[in-house]
Amino acid sequence: AGDGDADLVDTRLLEHRADHPLGDLRRASAPRPRSAHRTRAHHRALAVAGAPGLGHVAPVRGRRAGGRCDRFSAGRAGHDFGRVRRSAHPRGEHHGRAGRAFPDGRPSTHRLRHAAGPARSRIGAHRLAGGPRSRLTTRIAIVGFGNVGRAFAGLLLQKREALRREHGVDAVVTAILTRHHGWARDDGGLDLEALISSPELPLRDSRPLIAVLAADVLVEVSTLEVRTGQPALDHLRDALRSGMHVISANQGPIAHAYRELEALATERSRALRFEAALAALPVFTLARYALPGAKVLRLRGVVDSAANYVLSEAARGVSLARALTAARRLGIAASDTSHDLDGWGAAATAAILSNVLLGSDLRVEDVRRTPITSVVAKQAAAAARRGKRVRQLLTITPDGATVGPATLSSDDPLFAVEGSSMALELETDVAGRLVLAVHEPRVEQTAFALLADLVNVARGGTTNIRSR
Ligand SMILES: NC(=O)c1ccc[n+]([C@@H]2O[C@H](COP(=O)([O-])OP(=O)(O)OC[C@H]3O[C@@H](n4cnc5c(N)ncnc54)[C@H](OP(=O)(O)O)[C@@H]3O)[C@@H](O)[C@H]2O)c1
Repeated sequence: AGDGDADLVDTRLLEHRADHPLGDLRRASAPRPRSAHRTRAHHRALAVAGAPGLGHVAPVRGRRAGGRCDRFSAGRAGHDFGRVRRSAHPRGEHHGRAGRAFPDGRPSTHRLRHAAGPARSRIGAHRLAGGPRSRLTTRIAIVGFGNVGRAFAGLLLQKREALRREHGVDAVVTAILTRHHGWARDDGGLDLEALISSPELPLRDSRPLIAVLAADVLVEVSTLEVRTGQPALDHLRDALRSGMHVISANQGPIAHAYRELEALATERSRALRFEAALAALPVFTLARYALPGAKVLRLRGVVDSAANYVLSEAARGVSLARALTAARRLGIAASDTSHDLDGWGAAATAAILSNVLLGSDLRVEDVRRTPITSVVAKQAAAAARRGKRVRQLLTITPDGATVGPATLSSDDPLFAVEGSSMALELETDVAGRLVLAVHEPRVEQTAFALLADLVNVARGGTTNIRSR
């Protein structure tokens, strides 16, 4: 499937893991994270139109960040990775580079078996000897350590044992970079618990280049810049060029350069995953695994949590300004109003969905946007009195995409999407109309989407939907 390394690893993994059902991420008894926000249980629902509620997954619960802690990682003594070195680096960045395997394509079996050090390396992961089940150590660099980055780190701690036991994946974070709050690096594995509970990362001097990090996977969770996708786009380019798989919650790079990144990932036999870019709607996994051979013809959706929350409040008579303030207090609205109310965020989502699922070449600025104004808020209140709902509706067809307020009646599958919930309707040629919904997603669900991508990448998942 386009990832030669993955083929090799998959075969080995399955030898050891033939007894385990794929994708069964059950709740682990591992230590709870010290980060992430306290939240109610949230249900992730995968529902077929006409039969909502099918396929509920166990609720996920998070915790509020703990207090400040001054302890920083001293590294994990004795942690050892198998290493495969490149004879020449295209950009001459040998210094500081540690053991990323096979950056330039499919490795030979000889290279796999006779890598420097103990013969454990693979596609960005390393087999460790001993124990009842062979493991893959996957080294992760995280760019951005805000809400999502910290929630992801917390989830890694929470699920560490389950990932090892159920998926044979030993996830180790070796670097974390931020813009103004320092950075951290330990090639043997950072002490995440200490870092999560500290607002600042320990190192303050100039940040290392992504290409020199000792990581197999880059997790991009830096600030969204919706109009250009930068600098996250360059982070992804650098990571792929230097042999890392990439997993992004950041919509920017995917919305602006999906085709380029996909081509780069394919050329380098790396994985490009971005399920978390749609917060908690696992639409690409659905398309990849549940819709082989089917064609997505059209999409409709309510994909901006903040916009939907504001319109839901407006329907109850709350003013636009007050509803927006409340959305900000909940942490679901961007600081820039245009992101949610003017539809820029939904436009980025439209570009991603259209380019990935419909194979189009849609630019963010091509999406026709109609803003949510105080007039629209009053219309929402009036519609509610008639038993209808105004929603910021995203519509994608092969001819283009629109984002703007639309009045829905109660028989519309998207009518039920209330508050900060999100939903997407896919119309297909042979699989009917499917509705994917998530009830009031929080940052923990975005973190989970990153984790699911990580497990799939570590287990040999491949690039996204198209081009295979
Ligand atoms: N929040 C959600 O539920 C959600 C859902 C889906 C997708 N996302 C996406 O996930 C990403 C992160 O969201 P968030 O809520 O965690 O944002 P956030 O809390 O604002 O955190 C952003 C982090 O990125 C860092 N950063 C910014 N520019 C950087 C750069 N050039 N290099 C390295 N680090 C940089 C920031 O560092 P400083 O603090 O030092 O500036 C901060 O640590 C965004 O792209 C967002 O759109 C979020």
